Amino acid sequence: MLTPETSDNGKRKSLHGHWSSRMAFILAVTGSAVGLGNIWKFPYIAGQNGGGAFVLVYLLCVFLIGMPVMMSEILIGRRGRRNPVATMALLGKEEGSSSHWKWVGSLGVLAGVLILSYYSVIGGWTLAYVFKSVSGTFTGASATAVGAEFSSFTSSWWKLALCHTFFMGLTVFVVARGVERGLEKAVRFMVPALLLLMFTLLGYSINSGHFGSGVAFMFSADFDALTWDSVLAAMGQAFFTLSVGMGAIMAYGAYLPEETSITGASAAVVIADTGIAILAGLVIFPLVFANGLDPADGPGLVFVTLPLAFGHMTGGTFFATLFFVLLTFAAWTSALGLVEPAVAWCVEHFKRSRAEAAVIVGSVIWVLGFATVFSFNAISGVTFFRGTLFDNIDYLTSNVMLPLSGLLITIFAAWVMCRNSTSEELGGAGTGYRVWRFLARFVAPVAILFVFLKAIGVLPEMSGG
Ligand code: PFF
Repeated sequence: MLTPETSDNGKRKSLHGHWSSRMAFILAVTGSAVGLGNIWKFPYIAGQNGGGAFVLVYLLCVFLIGMPVMMSEILIGRRGRRNPVATMALLGKEEGSSSHWKWVGSLGVLAGVLILSYYSVIGGWTLAYVFKSVSGTFTGASATAVGAEFSSFTSSWWKLALCHTFFMGLTVFVVARGVERGLEKAVRFMVPALLLLMFTLLGYSINSGHFGSGVAFMFSADFDALTWDSVLAAMGQAFFTLSVGMGAIMAYGAYLPEETSITGASAAVVIADTGIAILAGLVIFPLVFANGLDPADGPGLVFVTLPLAFGHMTGGTFFATLFFVLLTFAAWTSALGLVEPAVAWCVEHFKRSRAEAAVIVGSVIWVLGFATVFSFNAISGVTFFRGTLFDNIDYLTSNVMLPLSGLLITIFAAWVMCRNSTSEELGGAGTGYRVWRFLARFVAPVAILFVFLKAIGVLPEMSGG
């Protein structure tokens, strides 16, 4: 197995290279965090779970659980400087525990592979919508026509397969180029451009005449209607959107320069990511109500509401195209985070070149992606447990694997690693450190475990939902 070299000051270096600056790291992690989770998934999950109360629980989960888990992942990654599996094994031994912690790293690598298998299919949709937008498909179209366009697209397995193949190809291409040349370049302009466009759309949605109902749907919380299953969905979404609980951030942390503040970088990423999700909700829900659509409509929500809005805007073709291009970029930079742990593992474990590893891992994910492709057409009628095969892969990864692996990662950072190691990585034992340690030792593990056990019905009901 390849091992990272040690530099003059006794600190490890990553054999995959390093980010060129603090800003590059923040951009890369933000690029990984901001993606389909914010713009496609957040609105539809919030819609399916009734809005308001779900959104508030989600925000609590982001700040009280997601952020401490993110900091734990970065500090572990930077200390180990290897792929998540090897890092967990190394630090497990170094901190006087066991190399079996590698299984936590493996769980993350597996979650990334499974998530990317469906993420790439949805990434393919965004790509297809770029072409649909350019050709003016949505100009002046009615809600029924836009809905029919979406259904006819997803019911064609070969179209989905083609787009999925294309999206996977793009991902493999960038990952193969490596940390500095590939990942950094891709994320530099995407986030600012996306933000700008979302604000433009916000202006449109404010003028839709239904902004108030959209805001009320998102923020007026009816806690009586909230079930433990929705709370678990909110927690799963917090993990998913921040890209934590699967080693992606750990893998990125491995390329982080020594002097960068982990707390500052995490805060910047969490705020940007949450801001974009809320912005997406504020754009989408008013449009849903303005057009008499159903917020609980599911995965097609963004692909119906936004084209409809663009179709009735001056310059709509241009804005729609730009929007789907940016969404494709957002999905692309997130896909890089999803595949990086598996690729880094493959490079180190099998001594493959980066390019070979990217192609091997990419091919496996491409094949797995067909489970999702067919879930929208050929086997859409085959439902069990949570729904279609796609629904089940999503549930298993977001609501089970991410929280479980996030739980174990935080327990490792806050209980297994010694105080000296963690405070060294987090820049001393000041207030920020104490807050992290408290959240990571007590709040996050207890909350994850509690919600999880409640949702699967292991803990008895007290009262209400
Ligand atoms: N955070 C991404 C999103 O919200 O779309 C999804 C994601 C990317 C999850 C990378 C996990 C990951 F490692």
